[in-house]
Amino acid sequence: MDQLEERLAALRIVPVVALENADDALPLCDALKAGGLPVAEVTFRTDAAPEVLSRIKRERPDMLLGAGTILTSDQVVQAADAGASFIVTPGFNPKVVNAALNRRIPIIPGVNNPSQIEMAMDYGPQLLKFFPAEASGGQAMLKSLSGPYRDARFVPTGGIGPRNLAEYLSLTNVVACGGSWMVAAELIADKDFETITELTRQAIETACAIPQPLEP
Ligand code: 3PG
Repeated sequence: MDQLEERLAALRIVPVVALENADDALPLCDALKAGGLPVAEVTFRTDAAPEVLSRIKRERPDMLLGAGTILTSDQVVQAADAGASFIVTPGFNPKVVNAALNRRIPIIPGVNNPSQIEMAMDYGPQLLKFFPAEASGGQAMLKSLSGPYRDARFVPTGGIGPRNLAEYLSLTNVVACGGSWMVAAELIADKDFETITELTRQAIETACAIPQPLEP
């Protein structure tokens, strides 16, 4: 287990964040930390992402900081320059994986089928984002993949929330789950950081109730 996997396995949940306004970055981190989750995947779905990353890196250096929705090699460089400690992609793009390997920044490439898993693992990463999790067969698919791909570990994301979090976290090949439910756009727009903390706390409670799956 590498260092990133170890940290994610301890945290168990990765909030997937899209911020339009970089001024929300620090209050959001504080809300997540107050709920027990010092981690965020800041997605490049908004232009503010690099600024959000650099503010968090500078002002809240204890946060485990990922950059998500990375679609190009240039974005890998931008994210690494801004202070991200890891990269997450929705799909498997060899150019993007190579850019991360060249920059020596860990990458969690997105996959949702056996061929993509084999290609991604061929490049090195064994920790993969299973995306979009619910739409790609969810827990049944992850269970099926655990047979042939014994070394693959997943961070399922997409359609996960309080309803199904426990089931995903119980799977032996799941390290952590990603999701936006505790950092939903409306909560951020309303600056409702208290609810973000409360939803985070509830998610942690759910995660803590599940014994860490043993290595198969
Ligand atoms: C992602 O980018 O990883 C997902 O869009 C997050 O999925 P969710 O909004 O269904 O949690």
